[in-house]
Amino acid sequence: MTETTTSTATTTDGETTDVLVVGSGIAGCAAALSAAREGAEVLLLTKATKPDDASTDWAQGGISTTRGDSESLKRDIIAASDGTADPAAVDTLVNHADDAVEDVLIDTLEVGFDETADGDLDYTREAAHSEFRILHVDAATGTHILRPFLQYVDDHDRIEVRQDTAALELITNEGRVHGVVSDEEPTGKPIYAGATVLATGGVGALYSRSTNPDDATGDGIAMAALAGADIADMEYIQFHPTAYDGEDPFLLSEALRGEGAVLRNGDGERFMDDYHPQGDLAPRDVVARAVEAEREATGEVVLDVSPLEFETDYPAIAEKCRDRGIEGDEIPVAPSEHFLCGGIDVDDRGRTSLDRLYAVGECARTGVHGANRLASTSLLEGLVWGLRAGDDATGFDPEVVEAPKLLNRDPELPERFAAEKFTRLQQTMDEYLGLERDPDEIARASAVLRRLKGEVDAYIRTRTARDLYELRNASVVALLIARAAGENTESVGCHYVATDADESTVEPTADD
Ligand code: SIN
Repeated sequence: MTETTTSTATTTDGETTDVLVVGSGIAGCAAALSAAREGAEVLLLTKATKPDDASTDWAQGGISTTRGDSESLKRDIIAASDGTADPAAVDTLVNHADDAVEDVLIDTLEVGFDETADGDLDYTREAAHSEFRILHVDAATGTHILRPFLQYVDDHDRIEVRQDTAALELITNEGRVHGVVSDEEPTGKPIYAGATVLATGGVGALYSRSTNPDDATGDGIAMAALAGADIADMEYIQFHPTAYDGEDPFLLSEALRGEGAVLRNGDGERFMDDYHPQGDLAPRDVVARAVEAEREATGEVVLDVSPLEFETDYPAIAEKCRDRGIEGDEIPVAPSEHFLCGGIDVDDRGRTSLDRLYAVGECARTGVHGANRLASTSLLEGLVWGLRAGDDATGFDPEVVEAPKLLNRDPELPERFAAEKFTRLQQTMDEYLGLERDPDEIARASAVLRRLKGEVDAYIRTRTARDLYELRNASVVALLIARAAGENTESVGCHYVATDADESTVEPTADD
């Protein structure tokens, strides 16, 4: 890419930068790093105020590598997706995986991945992986990657990290994106950029139970959709089968099952072999529906960690259990919203359908995951696409065009309004757009969500407040999910459409 000559500077109309990155998870940090390596001045905006506001920090299991066998990882990704992953996108991922991990995580950030007693890297395995190929740090891998990554980009002399700053609207003109309006001023502040990279994460906040942080409100997807960008695969919401089923839920990594933990139903019996030949290590969508079916049939499902050295090998998860007073080896679990496989449609460099707008990480739909994502490919996808998009996004001069003007007549009012509407939105998503969907219920959900969005839009026209914009974004994304779910009548991967013939969520495949 050509070297750029412009730099971040304040102007009377706002501010300009070469590359604007919105979001501070692994994908945003990777995009900022690679744009800066190309000589660009980068502004990284994030509404986060601490690392654990980003989903990356919550990632447990690890980051997949190929261990030199990219074809094997490709096969597993495509199988887990029920044959729906885009083979070309998967090639991009697997062909760049090991170099990206080595360059950024090992050589640049010096992440201390767990090692064996012999000092070799310790590779683990998760559901639907045919090989031990996942690098990890305990089962708190995201934290151990993100914290040094944030420090690194913050210390970089061509990258400015600006926290507690939300992007509210994209600035667009004739199909080209020129930056964002941020919430730094009461009526919004334009930030003009040669190119804009959205890395705003997922949509966990749309559901009452999620393994994402509370601020995962789908901001980038909503802003891109409102600006006219192509959005795809929104019906494929992945539910993780094993989140703690109690107050203050948390993720119980699939790595636990990868290393020998097993699921048991309320009768104390193992059941996954009845549902899938891979048993406890079946693809995540299959396990999630089986767990829900067994909870309904037998009252509860637990993850039995007695085959593991749980306290020693998984100290971060063991501590969470202790904090919640969980005793013994059996941890009650239930499915919980975990990851959006769809999002803003992008190509192999993160380019969206709008000129100079890129999307990376969970807000992007690269085609790698199809209808169901293979475990430990999300950090990898964020890293690979972040690096590729950041590199591609350099070389454009920022142009100052007319930016949307926002209003701020009564900033105090929306707080309670936003909280109440959010609860209604979550109830609708939980009830009608969860693990199992029904065409009539999807239509009902769409009607509720349309009304809700109408009420939110009426407020947005008169006020500027972050929580109101988050609600607007969540309601736009909820409608996109409902529309995609309604248009897809085929049960595949994470999108399971119940028919009149279905009596339970999912039927075992073998005789009991
Ligand atoms: C887990 O640790 O089970 C989650 C890993 C992932 O979602 O990739």
